[in-house]
Amino acid sequence: MSEINLAGIAGSIRKYSFNKALLHNAQNLSDDNVNIDILKIDNLPFFNQDVESSNFPEAATEFKNRIKEADGIIISTPEYNRSIPGVLKNAIDWSSRPPTDNAWAGQRVLVLGASIGPISTAIAQSHLKHSLLYLDCLVMGQPEFYLGNAHDKFNDKGKLTDEQTRDFLKETLHTFIDFIGKQ
Ligand code: FNR
Repeated sequence: MSEINLAGIAGSIRKYSFNKALLHNAQNLSDDNVNIDILKIDNLPFFNQDVESSNFPEAATEFKNRIKEADGIIISTPEYNRSIPGVLKNAIDWSSRPPTDNAWAGQRVLVLGASIGPISTAIAQSHLKHSLLYLDCLVMGQPEFYLGNAHDKFNDKGKLTDEQTRDFLKETLHTFIDFIGKQ
């Protein structure tokens, strides 16, 4: 089996983020030939269209390149006020610009989400998928992955302790690898 190099993006930059933890669990639960490199988004400045054609920030160029080079992208997003967090939107906006060099075009994307609420990021994921489709991504439609009541599903070290969720994450990752079609 060939190596599959995925990039992971957590839509939360807080230290003990459940969404970051979900990506770390995905790293541990994925097959040996699958690497998930978690990308930084907290070093990106606020998007400013004034600098997109000259002075494009180095951190944004680096982020764009990592998106382009990956075999697929996993985004794990929280829900903030029934949408996606600004830090995630900021990262997507930088990497989509300029339109002639949209890093997302043709990229395969798996969307996950964890929240402490019962609706478990359904609305945020829907908003996110909307932008990704506009950017010409191939977004995996099924299965959908909504992790609600996240505070009951991880231990204090960030390990996903809920067996059913662990199994479902594994299965979702396998389906995504098939979706990418590189094996
Ligand atoms: C939230 N939270 C939240 N949860 C939810 O299910 N739907 C929502 O609309 C919101 N809105 C919201 C707004 C803001 C500004 C914050 C800070 C939080 C709660 C959210 O699920 C919880 O803080 C998660 O722990 C955030 O994800 P991370 O940081 O753990 O990955």
